[in-house]
Amino acid sequence: MKGQEWYQQETVVEDYEDKRFSRGGGRLTDRLEKEAVLDGLEPVDGKRVLEIACGTGRFTVMLAECGADITGLDISEPMLQEGREKAQRAGVADTVEFMRGDAARLPFPDDHFDVVYGIRFFHLMDTPEEYLAEMCRVSSEQVFFDTYNRYSGRSLYNWALPMGSRLYSRSEVESLLSGAGLELAGERHEFVVPFGLYRKLPGGVAGAFRALERTIQRTPLGDPLASISYWNARVA
Ligand SMILES: C[S@@+](CC[C@H](N)C(=O)[O-])C[C@H]1O[C@@H](n2cnc3c(N)ncnc32)[C@H](O)[C@@H]1O
Repeated sequence: MKGQEWYQQETVVEDYEDKRFSRGGGRLTDRLEKEAVLDGLEPVDGKRVLEIACGTGRFTVMLAECGADITGLDISEPMLQEGREKAQRAGVADTVEFMRGDAARLPFPDDHFDVVYGIRFFHLMDTPEEYLAEMCRVSSEQVFFDTYNRYSGRSLYNWALPMGSRLYSRSEVESLLSGAGLELAGERHEFVVPFGLYRKLPGGVAGAFRALERTIQRTPLGDPLASISYWNARVA
């Protein structure tokens, strides 16, 4: 499993949001990812929700603000601490719980949540079937996650990343879902321009790339070229 030690380092944690989401194209990707998560999960008001590998709580806090009764679980205590501070600033510290744990062994009984999701996590896994089975076990209704796509711009610069990423084809995802007893209920494909490149662009240039991307997305090439896919599955 990649990333377990990486995200324990203080400098990595301090830089996590600043490097990726605080400027120009990075801010745009943060907004687009949040849109994709809301699109896949809403309505969440009153639902019991678990986010695995929640990191600094970007989505956890957003969903608490939407009325979810939410738990964020991550293996890195420094990432969780960032999440707790974010929840405090947003005034939702009472409705969100951040908990240290390993997503391979979720400390909850079967069907404990209505919804279980994880974002920017499946690319770190060596054994995705094991993690998906755990997500499925503790969810009574819905499981939602994203994958980095094998046949996309993502594969072009994967070699340059410190950990590399596991990439998935559509058929691999389908077989993972059916192996876990999940039914695909919806999907969304985004980022023809991989978000690692987006974040290096100033806001105006990123906006122009986004406009171009939206034009491509409306063509038959849009979905196959997307570097990220969001998978919305129902517990069968
Ligand atoms: C790329 S970050 C994504 C964080 C967050 N989901 C986001 O999109 O901003 C990956 C996260 O996975 C966490 N992680 C890695 N292995 C884990 C495991 N076995 N169980 C729980 N969390 C894990 C890391 O600590 C890190 O916070």
